[in-house]
Amino acid sequence: MADALVEAALRARENAHAPYSKFKVGAAIEDRAGVIHTGCNVENATYGLTLCAERVAVFKAISEGVRKFTRVAVVADTESLTPPCGACRQILWEFCGDVEIVLVNLAGKSETLRLGSLFPRPFDDSFL
Ligand code: THU
Repeated sequence: MADALVEAALRARENAHAPYSKFKVGAAIEDRAGVIHTGCNVENATYGLTLCAERVAVFKAISEGVRKFTRVAVVADTESLTPPCGACRQILWEFCGDVEIVLVNLAGKSETLRLGSLFPRPFDDSFL
């Protein structure tokens, strides 16, 4: 069955601005109301200002006033499925907690896991 969240991440990947790495990533995040928010990686000539697809998707949604999320999809063209980077894990934890994440490649391989398995001992507001 087609997964609308994965389809949205695949489409978002096409918008990636990745002229330096040539590594295009798409992300999609579903909010509690069922609305899908997408992101792609956006690179910069300075390299260090690059934003990952996952953070673009989260920040777009946050800036629209959305706070509760149920699922995340990440798409890249790699045989070994691409997981969110460390910085994105921290940001996803802040807003999504132990959310379900679907990793997908262009061949249709996929794996579903939870953020807690990728990020087992997070720093969050429970320490503050
Ligand atoms: N990238 C993402 O957008 N998400 C990930 O999960 C891994 C890495 C981007 C950042 C950069 O534009 C390119 O992939 C290579 O690191």
